[in-house]
Amino acid sequence: MEKREANQKSCLRPMPPIIVSCRDKEGRDNALVVGYAANCSFDPPMVIVGVREERFSHHMIEETGVFIANIASKHNKEIYDYLGTTSGRKEDKFKKMSINSRTGDKVNAPLLLDCPVNIECRVVNIVKSGSHDLFIGVVEKVHADKDLVDEKGNINYQKIDYMD
Ligand SMILES: Cc1cc2nc3c(=O)[nH]c(=O)nc-3n(C[C@H](O)[C@H](O)[C@H](O)COP(=O)(O)O)c2cc1C
Repeated sequence: MEKREANQKSCLRPMPPIIVSCRDKEGRDNALVVGYAANCSFDPPMVIVGVREERFSHHMIEETGVFIANIASKHNKEIYDYLGTTSGRKEDKFKKMSINSRTGDKVNAPLLLDCPVNIECRVVNIVKSGSHDLFIGVVEKVHADKDLVDEKGNINYQKIDYMD
């Protein structure tokens, strides 16, 4: 195939459909869409999420040192679109969208019950990287909808109805 030079920004694809949820030290909940997210250690299990400093969520994750990475499916499209375009600085996003959540088992952050997979994380390092701060989180607990998990605890990710 003949090649042609292309744009460099966000060139790794596909972007994972992640909603990062967090809580500040006063107990206020917030969440944002994060396309810059990846597994970054197999053992111990760790993930990385990239959050720009100007995001309202940034100071919340920084001050509490925890977050939950929720995988979004087609069923979460409405909240995904909203959470990715509206800042918690302007309004209470959880109240506005009646987001169904509960506190995580291991971390003090809201777990989005309507998302099929929820990954509770504790921040072990923050790396400044160009436009984004990379929050490296050790995975404390993973939750998945019952029908996605086999008897060994493996998640069948192919069963998730991903957004187009
Ligand atoms: C598809 C998509 C991917 C995004 N990826 C990121 C990201 O990786 N990091 C980031 O800081 N913001 C990202 N955003 C933007 C934030 O989700 C958005 O600015 C959000 O309103 C911030 O909310 P907050 O100010 O309440 O934290 C993304 C938005 C969309 C729609």
